[in-house]
Amino acid sequence: MAEAATLLRAGGLVAFPTETVYGLGADATDGRAVAAIYEAKGRPSFNPLIVHVPNREALSGLVRFGPEAHLLAERFWPGPLTLVLPLADNSALSPLVTAGLPTVAVRVPAAPLAQELLRMVGRPVAAPSANPSGRISPSRADHVLEGLAGRIDAVLNGGPCAVGLESTIVRPDPAVLLRDGGLAREDLEAVLGRAVAEDTTPGRVQAPGQLASHYAPSVSLRMGVAASQANASVHVGFGADKGDVTLSVSGDLIEAAANLFQVLHQADAMATARGTGITVSDIPNLGLGRAINDRLRRASAPR
Ligand code: TXA
Ligand code: MG
Repeated sequence: MAEAATLLRAGGLVAFPTETVYGLGADATDGRAVAAIYEAKGRPSFNPLIVHVPNREALSGLVRFGPEAHLLAERFWPGPLTLVLPLADNSALSPLVTAGLPTVAVRVPAAPLAQELLRMVGRPVAAPSANPSGRISPSRADHVLEGLAGRIDAVLNGGPCAVGLESTIVRPDPAVLLRDGGLAREDLEAVLGRAVAEDTTPGRVQAPGQLASHYAPSVSLRMGVAASQANASVHVGFGADKGDVTLSVSGDLIEAAANLFQVLHQADAMATARGTGITVSDIPNLGLGRAINDRLRRASAPR
């Protein structure tokens, strides 16, 4: 842990587990370190990064909170929620973090290793998911090494991520949903006391989901296919519709979310070995099922 914190403070790249997915961290106040993230991921530079801090106090002087931002932070931090907030004047963040935008995405992760690391670093840590750009997000340390070994300084191994899906992204005041994720939309709406709109403005800043094939496995993927129709493909099952690999045998969407990227990695490897594609059972489109379906749609996009 101390070595990881020292590497980060010296401008290095350290992957670390949050409760959502593994992040590829760098000191958010160090432009060179942030640039190294884009380079290691091979990421289009217009895609801004999420800044991670151990608590809300660590954001003072960096962003401004409106009433809804305050409410959501009180209720859901630490946890799988990212807020896009106006940058404070003269914030210490490198402009590369926000890709030059006047707003910045911020998050207080709950995972104990992330908390401990962020406290030791004592600076805001910019971290996208720790995968090469356009590939499946890592929910385990070995996923990180599969994609980024030799391109980063270290990975902290905290085992599998509890949530397994990226954070839900909201731009508050008034709240607009930018990405479905590990915090269910229903939970947000319950706290705000109203429905939350999705941002559909053309040309808006790209949330990762908007890059059509962002979560792409290396083989083709078809959604909403029953095991009985899967033929020779590697089938990813859900509930009673069992597959070669199954997201949740009991049909639990939270378990399915936690397993999603791990199962996709497995199915991708199996399908590649067999020279076939992937099919996935129908996943109910409610709660975390929405975020799962969003990720699956990206994975199935033609490319
Ligand atoms: O769970 C997560 O959110 C993980 C862990 C590591 O925290 N991180 C993650 O980061 O998924 P990433 O970079 O893969 O996705 C973050 C997305 C960016 O692609 C971008 O679209 C959006 O957050 N974003 C960042 N800053 C933004 C801003 N100022 N306005 C709108 N969207 C923004
Ligand atoms: Mg990502």
